[in-house]
Amino acid sequence: RDRRFLIAGNWKMNGLLQDGVDLAKAVAAGSDGRKAELLVCPPATLIKPIVDAIGGAAVAVGGQDCHYEDSGAFTGDISPTMLKDLGCGYVILGHSERRAYHGESDAEVKAKAEAAHDAGLVAIICVGETEAQRDANETLTVISTQLYGSVPEAATPDNTVIAYEPVWAIGTGRTATPEQAQDVHDHIRTYGMATFGPDNWDGVRILYGGSMKPGNAGELLSQPDVDGGLIGGASLKADDFLGIADAAD
Ligand code: G3H
Repeated sequence: RDRRFLIAGNWKMNGLLQDGVDLAKAVAAGSDGRKAELLVCPPATLIKPIVDAIGGAAVAVGGQDCHYEDSGAFTGDISPTMLKDLGCGYVILGHSERRAYHGESDAEVKAKAEAAHDAGLVAIICVGETEAQRDANETLTVISTQLYGSVPEAATPDNTVIAYEPVWAIGTGRTATPEQAQDVHDHIRTYGMATFGPDNWDGVRILYGGSMKPGNAGELLSQPDVDGGLIGGASLKADDFLGIADAAD
């Protein structure tokens, strides 16, 4: 495959200073010589200490969200330029938890992705259906709508990664089967090529997220359009996270 695997940890709202730095160091200690690219996305409070602690290791650092403006009167928000300034290379955008708990719309996610691109960050744009939508056979329509609304027209393999995260699989222990994941990933690539241009989309990496762990990573990553993982719970233990990276090697 031409696309390099990306194994990304989304720590969500977990980690105090010392534990977070220790976890990042343990990941960095197992990062050399990997086929997969490794990325950790800690809470914003830990980005700087982690960059300082593991600088030079083969682990990228990313944010979990950013604003669509670079600065201004937006209390509590963090801009893409601020993430870049701290040493981030990536930012997760439009995670289903942001969409559900902060009411983020597709249009807002797209504006954030454009701002992230302008700041020189790679945007990891998340899409995924709820259980009710899957049961109603709406999965592919929902994904198409989210892609159309959330992904900038100018997205390229260099500045954009898509994460498919079925909401019913997040933190539930219920993983999508490899076939279910591949079906949606294939749809994302086909839809992206048709909508945004074939040259761009052949190389765009599409990650799977939702209860991925060392025991199921191998069969998910063996699917032709699964180019890595966006890992929540299992990214909080270095052995599990690196175990998933092993499956990509
Ligand atoms: O961004 C990560 C996902 O929400 C997956 O979380 O691995 O805990 O299911 P999980």
